[in-house]
Amino acid sequence: MKRVPEKEVMDEPEGAAAYARADFSGVNQAFVGAFLAAHPSAARGTVVDLGCGPADIPLRLAQAAPACRVTAVDASEPMLAIARQALAKAEAGSRVTLLCGYLPGLPLPPHSFDAVVSNSLLHQLPDPAAFWGEVKRLVRPGGAVFVMDLFRPASDAEARRIVEAAAADADPLLKEDFYNSLKAAFSLEEVAVQLADAGLPLAPRQASERHLTVSGVL
Ligand SMILES: C[S@@+](CC[C@H](N)C(=O)[O-])C[C@H]1O[C@@H](n2cnc3c(N)ncnc32)[C@H](O)[C@@H]1O
Repeated sequence: MKRVPEKEVMDEPEGAAAYARADFSGVNQAFVGAFLAAHPSAARGTVVDLGCGPADIPLRLAQAAPACRVTAVDASEPMLAIARQALAKAEAGSRVTLLCGYLPGLPLPPHSFDAVVSNSLLHQLPDPAAFWGEVKRLVRPGGAVFVMDLFRPASDAEARRIVEAAAADADPLLKEDFYNSLKAAFSLEEVAVQLADAGLPLAPRQASERHLTVSGVL
């Protein structure tokens, strides 16, 4: 199936609120568990989350790893307003710093993080090289990368099937967003080429029927 890019920054308040209302707790907790299992020393380090959305993953990470300091970055101010409220309600929220910034060109010094993580940002970007370039720029030598995203199904029918299997009872608007995200996602082969082009010695791995992960040390 041909890739159909979707809207990049989620800067409409209604869209950001609908996204934040959706229950991604299972996937997000699994993300944190898999990241810490693959890179245990990151639990005591500095981590940047690219495209953090409502900051559910940064908060779960700060809760699971109290010695970890997390910087959570997003270009959407409405999304960050929701994140700010969530962090204010949780004790671990004080260990998460929010930053409004557009990628590439984030106002963060090079090689300043022990780990770079990101969930569901890559597929939203018109230019994936911008994403991998920023990952490479931000992680310190010997630091960890842990990225998860959807991968594009083989056909439109398969995309519809995945939406029904994973989100049958979800808000119709969110189901349509999910379907559009699957169509905008990259294939494993495309991500492998992106990583090689960026000079990153990493490989994508299929993690579920709809997710891929890229995990390793630079
Ligand atoms: C699908 S959401 C994922 C949010 C979060 N990582 C999660 O797992 O729930 C993608 C987020 O990336 C942000 N985003 C998209 N393009 C961006 C860019 N170029 N720079 C910074 N943030 C971006 C969007 O505003 C949105 O909040």
